Amino acid sequence: MKILVTGGAGFIGGALIRKLLQNTSYKIFNLDKLSYASDLVSINQINSSSDINRYEFLNVDLADQSKTQDAVEYSKPDKIIHLAAESHVDRSIDSPSLFIQSNILGTFNLLESAKIHWEKSKKDIIDFLFHHVSTDEVFGSLGSTGQFNEDTKYDPRSPYSASKASSDHLVRSYFHTYELPILITNCSNNYGPWQFPEKLIPLVIMKAISNEYIPIYGNGKNIRDWLFVDDHVDALLQIWDRGVIGETYCIGGESERSNKFIVEYICEALNKKLNNKKSFKELIKFVKDRPGHDHRYSINPNKIKNQIKWKPKLTFEEGIDRTIDWYLNNQAWCKRVLLDAGYSGERIGLQKE
Ligand code: NAD
Ligand code: DAU
Repeated sequence: MKILVTGGAGFIGGALIRKLLQNTSYKIFNLDKLSYASDLVSINQINSSSDINRYEFLNVDLADQSKTQDAVEYSKPDKIIHLAAESHVDRSIDSPSLFIQSNILGTFNLLESAKIHWEKSKKDIIDFLFHHVSTDEVFGSLGSTGQFNEDTKYDPRSPYSASKASSDHLVRSYFHTYELPILITNCSNNYGPWQFPEKLIPLVIMKAISNEYIPIYGNGKNIRDWLFVDDHVDALLQIWDRGVIGETYCIGGESERSNKFIVEYICEALNKKLNNKKSFKELIKFVKDRPGHDHRYSINPNKIKNQIKWKPKLTFEEGIDRTIDWYLNNQAWCKRVLLDAGYSGERIGLQKE
């Protein structure tokens, strides 16, 4: 079994590749352009202690059509799992064109390359799969009630979510038009180790321990549905076994929390862990809201629970505790990736231009 993972140098792709290296005998190709959010240390740590021939890194930008096609032809995958994307909403507000290039054009180039490869190798590859990893943000913003499910109509509201919605539509069109065997998953907010410290949870931990103010956008009442990254990875793997080609599966943690709750929870956990005299909560500052800030996301996970028999292993409390400990123990990594990325935790997403 040969598998091509795109975006494997990122947060979720990295967790997936670590799991594949540890628990399967697949040959793994990791295609990534190596952006500011990428890091290969976590994979290299595992790979160096295992069979080196099972893993190969391909430094490719999906926006480059011919290099993408070469990479697919070279790796000849039985399965493609497509995670590569520009993933930060705030950056999509400042620089939307990057999101169009990577998330829309990149997905189109990968689909075309996959189609050519699949058509050429139908007799050798019995169960080809193109698995597209997407987000709950394509469904827009909920009020205080209701949930997203597989039938919710698309209503993206940021350049990031609009680019992901567009990529979902392209992937689905290749199923209906060319019968390319695809699956789409739309997941809620992930958190856990090795996430680049620009997203809420790692940013708050980093700000607190650096004694810098902790920014909460708007009134802090926005709600996200949090899922520990390894639980997302388990869902992706289980869908390969029991998912139906052409279908969509929503993945969520049934762990809705407001941003204010999350930030205060982390501050309190850090107060206990570090035995701080002054409460980290004193660092919290309510700042100008994110433009077009979606109010609430919530996934109804009944389809994946009933059809795939997946449910998260960790509670939010277990997952966040592990995550905080990991960041406390890996400060050097955080500082290094921030330095390499030229990002020092400053506010982004206020329409720079
Ligand atoms: P990430 O930003 O940590 O990593 C993305 C990786 O994709 C990076 O290594 C980057 O270099 C690579 N990449 C981006 N554009 C590329 C291109 N043009 N060519 C090659 N590589 C490219 O993102 P993540 O949080 O790991 O998210 C992975 C996927 O999961 C994304 O598609 C995202 O939309 C989706 N998703 C993320 C979450 C979340 O909470 N993080 C939730 C649901 C879905
Ligand atoms: O829902 C899935 C999505 O979750 C993924 O598709 C995205 O790739 C991922 O980045 C994430 O998007 P969000 O915008 O929800 O995540 P972020 O961590 O940027 O923000 C979470 C919430 O916290 C959001 O309501 C904005 C708020 N926030 C964020 C930051 C960085 C703050 O209040 N302060 C901050 O400093």
